[in-house]
Order: sequence, then structure tokens, then C-alpha cells
Amino acid sequence: MRKIQMVDLHGQYQHIKPEIDRAIGEVIDSCAFINGPAVKNFQEHLEKYLGVKHVIPCANGTDALQVSMMALGLKPGDEVITASFTFIATAEVIALLRLTPVVVDVDPDTFNIDPAAVEKAITPRTKAIVPVHLFGQCAPMDEILEIARKHRLFVIEDACQAIGADYVLKDGSKKKAGTLGEVGCTSFFPSKNLGCYGDGGAIFTNDDELAKQLRVVVNHGMTVRYYHDYIGVNSRLDSLQAAILDIKLGHLDEYAKKRAEAADFYDHAFANHPKLKIPARYPRSSHVFHQYTLVTRNVDRKGLIEHLGSKGIPAMIYYPVPLHLQKAYLDPRYKPGDFPVTEALAASVFSLPMHTELDREQLGFITGSVLEFVNR
Ligand SMILES: Cc1ncc(COP(=O)(O)O)c(C=O)c1O
Repeated sequence: MRKIQMVDLHGQYQHIKPEIDRAIGEVIDSCAFINGPAVKNFQEHLEKYLGVKHVIPCANGTDALQVSMMALGLKPGDEVITASFTFIATAEVIALLRLTPVVVDVDPDTFNIDPAAVEKAITPRTKAIVPVHLFGQCAPMDEILEIARKHRLFVIEDACQAIGADYVLKDGSKKKAGTLGEVGCTSFFPSKNLGCYGDGGAIFTNDDELAKQLRVVVNHGMTVRYYHDYIGVNSRLDSLQAAILDIKLGHLDEYAKKRAEAADFYDHAFANHPKLKIPARYPRSSHVFHQYTLVTRNVDRKGLIEHLGSKGIPAMIYYPVPLHLQKAYLDPRYKPGDFPVTEALAASVFSLPMHTELDREQLGFITGSVLEFVNR
């Protein structure tokens, strides 16, 4: 059996090696390393794939979030509501910009932000909501967009884990994750569903004026060369990464299919198990399975992960500490027990290997090894 990995980037590369090597070679030959034609090509192809008017490439997903908040003109003291169960980057940029992160609990089944909790958290200072499409499926965007409309708030989608996921709005229209709010953000970190071979990110919007401002902010706040009307940042997707992403974009739907097949295999093995809860599918979103995350019930989770490790099976906890309990983010407004769903999830979830290269032998070994431990 091939070595089991959390993410098998090497195996994935082997299938597309000639295409990738050619694309990298072309960029190096051209020496157009920054803002070369490869960046524009990828940008246009991604706009087409997502059905969105503007894609603004940038250096990583964290920058995508930060630049979005800067371009929307959020100011110190403005409150931004986000989920307590997410990767730290979502809250980090809010704090860095001296905005006020307002944390709310999530749904126990989908792990995504709870719209009722969002509505309760709104104050006169609230300016934006950042729903995170966690683990690969969209948050309940109809409700979030409705709340945003009612209270005149911006919606900044953190789609770093959900590129390619489809969301069917209540009116029947179908949109891609990250194209539903004012602005969507994604990451091309290597392990992401659309990952490059280094760091990368992008911002999506259908708003022409906002797109202009986003392009200014990512480029040192520069409107005309060497004339800086705004304080910006330097956040670029380099041409090599863009060339790699352009190739991988052509495979994204096939990658999602492979991830879904692995998820179905896991589901089949663990469905209705009294000690394991398989990830719920939210009916209005497809799931692109950035992670396959199970909730354990009365299981020694540490013992299970050690058991899997001893058999060469990696497993991870995404995320062991809720935002409001992270040392750097401790805040007198929050205390342990404030977000019971997130806290229970942080104590009970674990994620199994999930990528495009898992074969049935590996999946059988993984599921057998999990069941061996939990059935003891
Ligand atoms: C939900 C979420 N938000 C933001 C980020 C930040 O992306 P990056 O690592 O590219 O900065 C990530 C990924 O790491 C993420 O998973």
C-alpha cells in the first residue's frame, strides 16, 4: 500500500507533471516573474470558472481578507462578526486592522456560522459579516445575505476552504462560493483544493468600483504609478504560481469528484455509528471536502489519533482551540462556555486524510483502523 498522507501533493503532481513543468519552464524563459501574462490568464480563467466579474489575485488568503476589509473602508472600532470555529486568519486581520472582532457560535451539524447568532450580535457599530465556508461547504448564505441587507452590512466570504463549491440560492440561482457577498476571499495554499506550489490567494467581486479599489490596495495604494492616494499593501500572486494554478484550475472539478468519492467511502463506513458522527451535508451547498471531519462521542480522541499514527495514518484536529479562547485573542467580552457548540466541537472533532490521490486500499485501511479503535 502507498504511504498514507493527510494531503498527497507529490502523487497529484505526478499526474500533471508534464503540463506543470512546461508551464513553469515558459514563465522562467519569459522572466516575466511579476504581473506577467500568466497572472492575467489565470485571472481571466478563474473569473470564467466562478462566473464572477472580477478576480483580484494576491499573495495569500490572509491578505485577501485584509485587503477586502481595507478596500471596503472599514475603520478602527467597526465591528466585524465572524464564526468562533475557524482558522485564525479570519480573526487575525480584523484585529490587525484594529477593527473589533465579534465572535458567534456555529451550527453543530455543518460547523458553519449560525445566522440567528449573527443577528443577535448586531449593534450600531457592526459593519460586516465574515461567513467562513468551513471544510468545503457554504455557510447558509440566504440567511446571511438577508441579515446583511436588513442591517446594511458588508458580507465578506471566507471561501479559502471552499473554492468550487456551488450554492443554490432560495430563488433557484446557482453561484460559486465566494461570489455571493460583496467580496469573496480564497487561498491557494498548497494543501487547498486549488493549491499552488507556494503561497497565493485571490479576491472575487462583481462590483466594478470595489474591484478598482481592491486593485489599488493590493498595489501599495497606488492609483497612478508612484502616486499613492491610499495606504495599501504589497500583495501579489507571482507568475510561476499563476501558471501552476492555471493548469490546476482545469482539473479542479475532477479533484472535487475524487474528494467526494473518498468522502462517500468514509461516510459509508461510519454512517450511524454510535460513537462517530459523519459530516452533515448542507442541502443548499455542494461540499468540496477540503477536510473530512468527524465528531466523536465518548471516544478517547487522543488515543484514537495515536492509534492511527502508530499505523502510519495521519489525523488532525481542525481546530483544537476556539477563537475566543486563543491566548492572543482573550477578551474580557468572552469567557469559556460562551460558545458551547464551538467548544464542544473543538473537544471532539478530528479530520482524516482527504485529497485527490486516496485509493480504495488506503481508504479501507483508514476506516478499518478507525473502527478497530472505536469498537474496542
Ligand atoms: C478559513 C481560512 N481562512 C483563511 C486562510 C488563510 O489563507 P492563507 O494561508 O493563504 O493566508 C485559510 C488557510 O490557511 C483558511 O483555511
